[in-house]
Amino acid sequence: MRLIVLAVAVFVSGGAAAQEWTTDEKTTLRSLWIGSLKALPSDPSNRYADDPRAIALGHKLFFDTRLSSNSAVSCATCHQPDRAFTDGRALAEGVGVAARHSPTLVGVAYSPWFFWDGRKDSQWSQALGPLEAAVEHGGTRTQYVKLILTDPSYRVAYEEIFGAARLDVSRLPDRAMPGDDAWDNMQAVRRDAVSRVYANIGKAIAAFERRILPGPSRFDRYVAGVLNKDASASEDLLPDEIAGLRLFIGQGNCTQCHNGPLLTNNEFHNTGLPAVEGEEPDTGRAGGVRTVFADEFNCTGRFSDAGLRGCGELLFAKTEGPGLVGAFKSPTLRNVADTAPYMHDGRFATLGAVLEHYSNAPASAVGQSELLPLNLTEREIRQLEQFLRTLSGPLAMPDSYLAAPR
Ligand code: HEC
Ligand code: HEC
Repeated sequence: MRLIVLAVAVFVSGGAAAQEWTTDEKTTLRSLWIGSLKALPSDPSNRYADDPRAIALGHKLFFDTRLSSNSAVSCATCHQPDRAFTDGRALAEGVGVAARHSPTLVGVAYSPWFFWDGRKDSQWSQALGPLEAAVEHGGTRTQYVKLILTDPSYRVAYEEIFGAARLDVSRLPDRAMPGDDAWDNMQAVRRDAVSRVYANIGKAIAAFERRILPGPSRFDRYVAGVLNKDASASEDLLPDEIAGLRLFIGQGNCTQCHNGPLLTNNEFHNTGLPAVEGEEPDTGRAGGVRTVFADEFNCTGRFSDAGLRGCGELLFAKTEGPGLVGAFKSPTLRNVADTAPYMHDGRFATLGAVLEHYSNAPASAVGQSELLPLNLTEREIRQLEQFLRTLSGPLAMPDSYLAAPR
């Protein structure tokens, strides 16, 4: 009789999924919980990162399509607020088509590295990349600087934050940037003054972008319940979602790379993506780490506000080794259900396809895969997918930030 009662109880509460979590498992759950997210880290390289005036200016710049060669592209073209700041495309499309997929910007301020290959070491220097990339915004440095210093409202806002811009805009070429003749023909001091305004544009955009933060999801409510020994906790997730969570922190070994409250270790890993016919394999971090050291806007450069002591992450970065080849930054899994398609090249249209990949773990197109096949059953794949879907929640930022300011 007792056995039957037990069996019924287990059945009603969803079988194995609803088993008690061990103390170790609870420690892991707490570490993934949004309540464990630390306060925004400071950015020593950007002294304006938390200046409300810089946030307001950055907000405007993020949505302004005048920052492009065809007046049609803004940051928000590829980082759309209603798609958790992605674009729904495999490969990003601005003035042209980019070589990689647009990642989410949710919680990006917590990362020490930016881009899939980490070729930037601050948010502000990252923002300066797409602006001058031919296939993204497609514009030039002097074009952007002229816009900021000739548009009256931009100029007032800019000078309130960064001080007077000592630059005679009327004498600047309309289009000039490093790598072209018009730029080379400018005097070094003028190039420097232009680059300083340009760096400040990045610093304002970064101040805004720091506010793109994740909010509590169903998963977080469940964990809060488990940690508070709230008997109704298991109602926050369905049995299959709980089973998927169990796989995620257990047999799936996902937390090796997707850990902490943002579900990323912000490091670079080779996940064994096979070659795509007719395409050069992307070497990822191996190239990215060389680029960041050569970047005039890196943490140690003259446009950074950090002293060398604030640049530990860059100075101690691993620059060599086979592990960098074909390695990409582990993406956050916050709101991952809203950011399809997936991976650095957007090759997987669905979460199910990503999980099939982890199940099979083929050899990498380049470098060495760090994965071992998980040989998941169809059911396990479905459960993992259902778990991943519980990681979506409304972003923890003012609604007014989700559109251009009025
Ligand atoms: C044409 C589409 C496009 C536009 C426009 C664009 N981005 Fe991106 N963004 C991307 C792509 C693609 C990547 C990844 C590129 C790579 O890793 O090589 C990316 C990466 C990023 C990252 C790195 C995220 C991470 O986790 O490392 C940030 C931050 C970002 N973009 C912010 C911006 C800002 C700010 C702007 C405007 C100044 C902007 N983007 C404009 C497509 C775009
Ligand atoms: C060895 C580190 C590592 C492990 C283990 C790992 N991941 Fe990943 N994950 C990554 C990296 C790196 C990427 C991006 C790879 C790329 O784009 O080339 C990624 C991408 C993803 C994506 C796509 C997200 C996006 O925005 O494109 C999902 C979903 C995902 N992983 C889920 C999982 C799950 C579920 C597991 C466990 C079954 C897992 N990962 C195990 C490192 C890892």
